[in-house]
Amino acid sequence: MEKGVILSGIQPTGKLHLGNWAGAIKNWVKLQDEYKCFYMIADLHALTAYYSNPKEIKNNVIELYIDLVACGIDLNKSVLFIQSSVPAHSELNLIFGMITPLGWLQRNPTFKEKIKEMKNMDLNNYGFLGYPVLQAADILIYKADKVPVGEDQLAHLEITREIARRFNYLYGEFFPEPQALLTEVPKILGFDGRKMSKSYNNAIYLSDSEDEIKSKVMKYITDTKKIYKNDPGNPENCNLFPLYKAFANKEVKNDINEDCRSGKLGCVECKNKIAKIIIEILKDYKEKRNILLKNKNKLVDYIRDNNEKANSVAKKTIEEVYELIGLKYV
Ligand code: TRP
Repeated sequence: MEKGVILSGIQPTGKLHLGNWAGAIKNWVKLQDEYKCFYMIADLHALTAYYSNPKEIKNNVIELYIDLVACGIDLNKSVLFIQSSVPAHSELNLIFGMITPLGWLQRNPTFKEKIKEMKNMDLNNYGFLGYPVLQAADILIYKADKVPVGEDQLAHLEITREIARRFNYLYGEFFPEPQALLTEVPKILGFDGRKMSKSYNNAIYLSDSEDEIKSKVMKYITDTKKIYKNDPGNPENCNLFPLYKAFANKEVKNDINEDCRSGKLGCVECKNKIAKIIIEILKDYKEKRNILLKNKNKLVDYIRDNNEKANSVAKKTIEEVYELIGLKYV
């Protein structure tokens, strides 16, 4: 049986933290055997908001590429490419722009939220309104049927399906209607108790040193009712416990849960333990990262090869699209 096709994308907006890793990247790594996977660094999407200050994008893209490979995206199994290096995304975006009613975009809840959230930026541009159209092009240019994303992307995926349906209705059955692959991931909190996020300055980064990791873990607020070391605690009220859920194996997680509840385990010891686990997990990542950094030429080859692989699939689709619409001349 032929494997299903996956496409997913990530914006190059800075270095990866444990929340990104637990939420998206681990899942990407897992899906590589089961599906034909296209993973994309969405630099054009980053430009929709950072158009006035694009200098950082390039460096972020390269760093992210290295990070993703170091996290386990296997270039023998998956295609890891850069959006702007595959021109057919932009071409299909333009075609989809013709058939997408403005109302779909103006009603998009993510659009409204982002405008509010990013008040300090001027997002009154055509490209930002069209964000979901470009995302539809990203997905459909590979005729992907599954898209691993977080819940925050469901509205965009709905628009992707609507665009696919409208295209098929106008020009003939051609695109699949891609479904989200939602995975349950524990919500990773930062050391201030809010969702771990680059913009809150509360994140543990994959690139943090051992000392940084230890000192950030120490800042976490644990169950506030557990005052003395041997008081019984409740892991469900502890900001740190989601890290165990995401990064420790089952036995360790269960032991911690029991020993916290019984009062056997104090919070300082618990923090030391998870810091050790995180540092251990990141060892492999750091080693792979160093190898890639030492061999920049090889990295450039990887990027070029993967862009090319994506290109050959995407080009075929866009040619078929022109033909279907009736814009093929010779
Ligand atoms: N919008 C996605 C995000 O911010 C990134 C993205 C761009 C994407 N194109 C995509 C995700 C296509 C899935 C499929 O996270």
